[in-house]
Amino acid sequence: MLGLRKKNRIREAKKLEIGSGSKPKKGYIHFDVRSNVKADIIGDARQLPFENLEYDEVYSRFFLEHLPRNDAKKALSEMYRVLKLDGTIELIVPNIAYFCKLFIEEKGQKKEWALNKLYGFENYPEDHHYFGYDYDVLAKYLHEVGFIDIIGVKDQEQYTHIKAKKPKL
Ligand SMILES: C[S@@+](CC[C@H](N)C(=O)[O-])C[C@H]1O[C@@H](n2cnc3c(N)ncnc32)[C@H](O)[C@@H]1O
Repeated sequence: MLGLRKKNRIREAKKLEIGSGSKPKKGYIHFDVRSNVKADIIGDARQLPFENLEYDEVYSRFFLEHLPRNDAKKALSEMYRVLKLDGTIELIVPNIAYFCKLFIEEKGQKKEWALNKLYGFENYPEDHHYFGYDYDVLAKYLHEVGFIDIIGVKDQEQYTHIKAKKPKL
């Protein structure tokens, strides 16, 4: 019985993906600034068109680095605002330390890949990277905005993958 109730709660969770682009994550409401990608809602993450405390989860992959530092902090504050109490944020960004090292140590295609990950691929007007993160930098910004229980997900070394919570009260 308890298992069934838990399953229902998971099914009903309201989940938002910011900067979903052309690889939207299944099960999320997709939000992006570009009108030519299949987002559910078009807008700017620096001013989210949602009520306070609306979402159980906010997810964002390879988006935050597309904003200058102060704008990224604004977007993080917006993600915090629209999350419910005890809601979860999950962020994935390129790990700047990994790509700096790759740039210094490699040649050819890998060096070019490092440049693309540091500065953006420039495939469309918003495809610039204005800032870089490792775990410490991103965790600090999340902490400043008010997030708690900040943990690094250890998966791929080239990416900084972090989960955190909005406090219950
Ligand atoms: C590199 S793509 C990532 C797409 C997808 N999340 C992925 O993992 O492949 C970055 C996305 O962020 C979006 N974006 C850039 N600036 C934005 C903003 N201010 N507000 C909302 N989305 C933005 C871009 O349009 C783009 O679709």
